[in-house]
Amino acid sequence: MDKRHLVQLAVLASCAALAACPADTPAATATGPATPTVETPPPAPAAPSADAAAEAKQLFATRCVPCHGASGAGDGPASAGLTPKPAAFSSAEWQAKVSDEHIEKIIAYGGMAVGKSAAMPPNPDLDGKPVIPALRVLIRGMKAP
Ligand code: HEC
Repeated sequence: MDKRHLVQLAVLASCAALAACPADTPAATATGPATPTVETPPPAPAAPSADAAAEAKQLFATRCVPCHGASGAGDGPASAGLTPKPAAFSSAEWQAKVSDEHIEKIIAYGGMAVGKSAAMPPNPDLDGKPVIPALRVLIRGMKAP
């Protein structure tokens, strides 16, 4: 009885040792479709939070209205001296020709960063913050119905 028991133990032990090695390697080196790390969140949130939307509204009124005007028509008090003048955000044609990425980029990095007038200032303090997409949504919403 002792002897058989020992043999069984030895077999069990060697099985465990053998099983451990090959089990580790394929998992670590697998390159096939078996490794979908699906946890990456989508890069752009669909809609800004209520907080970001409120902040965008306030920021637009203080920082953007002087040039862009309260309704984004490009007729703010400081727009008189600007050449070229800002496009009217209500324009369906303008809305159609600019990408979301372009709008967010010009707000964060300024006109020069996208080949536009340097009179459109960068807003480095907003870069990467949720208020940038929120400003973009606000501007998209200024399109005339
Ligand atoms: C000092 C004046 C000034 C201020 C302040 C300003 N802009 Fe502008 N903005 C401009 C001018 C000028 C243009 C036009 C650039 C061109 O067409 O070359 C422009 C263009 C834009 C465009 C359109 C780019 C295009 O391709 O037509 C967006 C979007 C924009 N501004 C957003 C903003 C936002 C949002 C703010 C506030 C955070 C802001 N701007 C503040 C002057 C200003």
